[in-house]
Amino acid sequence: MLKNKWYIVLSSEEIKKNKILKVKLFGEEIIFWRDSNNIVHAIDSRCPHRKADLSLGKIVKDCVQCPYHGFMFNGDGQAVLIPSLGKSAKLNPNFKVKSYRVKEYKNFIFLWYGDENPNDEIIWLDGIDDSFSYSTLKSIWNVNYTRAIENQLDVSHLPFVHRTTIGRGNKTLVNGPIAELDGDVLNVWVCNEVDNDQTPKKSNEINKEQCTGRLQLIFPNYWQNMINDKVRIVAAFVPQDENTTILYVRLYQKFLNAPLLKNLINFIIMSFNKIVLNQDKGVVESQVPKFSDISNKELLVQADSPILLFRKYMHEKMK
Ligand code: FES
Ligand SMILES: [Fe+2]
Repeated sequence: MLKNKWYIVLSSEEIKKNKILKVKLFGEEIIFWRDSNNIVHAIDSRCPHRKADLSLGKIVKDCVQCPYHGFMFNGDGQAVLIPSLGKSAKLNPNFKVKSYRVKEYKNFIFLWYGDENPNDEIIWLDGIDDSFSYSTLKSIWNVNYTRAIENQLDVSHLPFVHRTTIGRGNKTLVNGPIAELDGDVLNVWVCNEVDNDQTPKKSNEINKEQCTGRLQLIFPNYWQNMINDKVRIVAAFVPQDENTTILYVRLYQKFLNAPLLKNLINFIIMSFNKIVLNQDKGVVESQVPKFSDISNKELLVQADSPILLFRKYMHEKMK
């Protein structure tokens, strides 16, 4: 897994006040909670004393108290109370549990995965601001997150996997696409059309203005389909472990703002998105191996250039 990056790991509303949430991420069990200032904290769920599950404990004075012998840990993972030693005991700093840096941004929870010091800056998706409303759906896929991401960079699967939904129109021929890597951002311009015996154009023979679709991936794990200025589909691909990914899919829209109507339209579009997502899920879970890598023996074609760029980036950063 790519290290030293801010990953989206949860949707904000999943962490409720006064409730500890346990989540499996990167193969580890991690607990999250909010303190009295609404700041989110994350630490490993295993108590370092005798390994009870801290998620069964409770939140006391902004700390988590272990259910077994009452050790209390703050948001930095430091033990601040060991009841059997007394309230006034000076505690050895070794009494601590691993903590994670987290930030709440755009109603997502971001977690810094890696040992280096975190960057302060989180890169956000172009053009999505607070004037959009959104609704979220969650889906668990039995694949490595790299496969799930590649599926959203795959411009030639639409008329096959999504023949009955977003891939109608039989646009099987792929010009380009144009794929550009700019730091941690991968931008893709899509230019598919019906096959009338023409030869597909190369990426340098088309221009961005004539492209009809636009995708954007921000490494390590979030993406958008820029449908237009008022509608975006966003997805985050959260690695639960090597072979399991939790997808958060959000519809962002600002063409309808009236409260009831807005909820209704968000619901209808999300139901449609659920169908589209399930069409992808079946085929992506069938891929072998369950992760993508530049060394995978796959016969890539011109239309796969965004996938190749993704693999090159991952290969370079994982060295
Ligand atoms: S196991 Fe947690 S305090 Fe003992
Ligand atoms: Fe798809």
